[in-house]
Amino acid sequence: MSNKMWGGRFSTAPAAIMEEINASIEFDKRLGPQDVRGSLAHVDMLVATGIVADADGAAIADGLRAIAADIDAGRFTVSRALEDIHMNVEAELAQRIGPAAGRLHTARSRNDQVATDMRLWVRDTVDALDAQLAALQRALAGRALEFAAAVMPGFTHLQSAQPVTLGHHLLAYVEMFGRDRGRLADARRRMNECPLGAAALAGTSFPIDRARTAAALGFDRPTANSLDSVSDRDFALETLAAASICAVHLSRFAEEIVLWATPQFGFVRLSDAFSTGSSIMPQKRNPDAAELVRGKAGRVVGALTALLIVMKGLPLTYSKDMQEDKEGTFDALHTLSLCLAAMTGMVDDLTPDLDAMRRAAGSGYATATDLADWLVRALGLPFREAHHVTGRLVGLAAEARIGLEDLTLAQMQTVEPRITAAVFEVLGVDRSVESRTSHGGTAPVNVTREARRWLAALAPA
Ligand code: ARG
Repeated sequence: MSNKMWGGRFSTAPAAIMEEINASIEFDKRLGPQDVRGSLAHVDMLVATGIVADADGAAIADGLRAIAADIDAGRFTVSRALEDIHMNVEAELAQRIGPAAGRLHTARSRNDQVATDMRLWVRDTVDALDAQLAALQRALAGRALEFAAAVMPGFTHLQSAQPVTLGHHLLAYVEMFGRDRGRLADARRRMNECPLGAAALAGTSFPIDRARTAAALGFDRPTANSLDSVSDRDFALETLAAASICAVHLSRFAEEIVLWATPQFGFVRLSDAFSTGSSIMPQKRNPDAAELVRGKAGRVVGALTALLIVMKGLPLTYSKDMQEDKEGTFDALHTLSLCLAAMTGMVDDLTPDLDAMRRAAGSGYATATDLADWLVRALGLPFREAHHVTGRLVGLAAEARIGLEDLTLAQMQTVEPRITAAVFEVLGVDRSVESRTSHGGTAPVNVTREARRWLAALAPA
């Protein structure tokens, strides 16, 4: 038997392998709620414009609402022979209400339908991701306030550079996730135009009201060009790009957690709730969730790359290649959601070892810059000369295998005779961080103020 929906000019059924490669229902069935929403808006408009009679419109809307209830309840069954969610819903509607169902597809094509459904789905998902990102920011800012004065090493080249505070480090991620939210919001703003009514590609001769369907579906306006409406997938690309950057931020933080949780660093401990054991080595506590957040970033970036490559050679307008937008987009955004939840859990869970962090902050001559700054301030040396003097003092301490603060004043004066005992005040890690009060600096007063500012801005309305 040829296809019920488009089989008019076909005499035989598709080959089994044709059906298998062609069908998208296994993955696009998740667009069921969006598909019904789109159809309800469409039929309401068809009735309002007099294109479909009231009675038929009412039967269609009632049938669609009943299908929506079945989808919600997990009772909606689909068939692969019907290819995709759009034809499955329409066939089910025909089963329920008879021939009137055939009027729903007036002035519409699956091309504008699928573009609308995908935008609705991506938009809903972006809203959910934004809420999750805000929750992660809240968790981070809360812990930042708690550890506003907790000294740890700051790194460049993964070498101890200067002491910073754990709160400051956590707030760095609050900033990154804030920009991720901004990128998702930008993508949402641009995607919020309704393609419904572009029909197959050229528009339609029916007197439709596209502003009405756009408003009913929460879009800002209808899209302006029918060809663009059915061929564009940049709303998905842009969302995946924002998601990829966010996944990379999560991955970097995850990598730090992995590193910090090693016995060698010993900066943080994850509770049993976020650790796993080894089946052979009884001592192990593995940070699997952090490793998976790091690893799953690859899937998100992969989905972006895959869709860019699917789209790059397609002439306008719709080609079936575009059906390949779905699995990657669904998977990537679901993966990001999972990673955000896992990361929020870890942020709440982790216990820093403040002594280990402080000890590490003092090692590796991390206050050498403070010493050089002191030479500039107290003795009036040019910074380059102060840098040189400090380098020699570090050399002296390194030779003796002691810290800078363990050098005696007499030892220091062999390098620079004008140094006074006041220098010892700047050699401690606490003084170091306390002195960094410049805008955006790591001083605990700054961190406390910034954490409070974020917490106030993030408070649920
Ligand atoms: N399942 C299709 C997709 O996801 C729907 C659009 C089909 N359009 C067409 N002209 N065959 O892209």
